[in-house]
Amino acid sequence: MASVKELTLRAAGTSEVAAVLEFWQGAAENDSRPADSATAVAALVARDPEALILALDDGEIVGTIIAGWDGWRCHLYRLAVAPHRRRSGIGARLIAAAEERFRDLGGSRADAMVLDANERAHGIWDAHGYARQNEWSRWVKSII
Ligand SMILES: CC(C)(COP(=O)(O)OP(=O)(O)OC[C@H]1O[C@@H](n2cnc3c(N)ncnc32)[C@H](O)[C@@H]1OP(=O)(O)O)[C@@H](O)C(=O)NCCC(=O)NCCS
Repeated sequence: MASVKELTLRAAGTSEVAAVLEFWQGAAENDSRPADSATAVAALVARDPEALILALDDGEIVGTIIAGWDGWRCHLYRLAVAPHRRRSGIGARLIAAAEERFRDLGGSRADAMVLDANERAHGIWDAHGYARQNEWSRWVKSII
């Protein structure tokens, strides 16, 4: 097993969409959100080929993050680390890679979608300088 420093971090390709979806089934936070689909993930990779970042150990996906840049703000989604590899710094490396991407693009502020009940996730965002904005809420509408 490679140490966290030896992991490969790189953007996902379209051929990896199915593997990413399978990884998320076992590693990601899947409550209170629309279900993922291969079509949606492939559309993300096609529109912004650098947005979906994978952490790989000898070809095995051990972590993911979506570093989404819309030309205005920087949005983070789908931070997930394989359960057997947690607390070894993989999440930290993924957040750092996403922030590096945002800086290179000229972004000035990043935000993360974090479930209020997901206290395990609060620790990592807090540790990386992210803070909850109590004065704002997300207003959502399905447009399908
Ligand atoms: C949240 C998650 C991504 C963290 O990944 P990770 O690789 O274990 O995190 P790291 O090892 O890089 O931890 C970095 C720091 O974040 C904080 N942290 C990470 N997990 C934590 C936890 N369970 N409780 C409290 N703090 C935590 C700690 O400060 C940690 O540093 P330390 O290990 O030196 O104490 C991982 O637990 C996960 O995939 N959870 C399921 C999916 C999920 O909830 N994703 C977040 C969606 S918003």
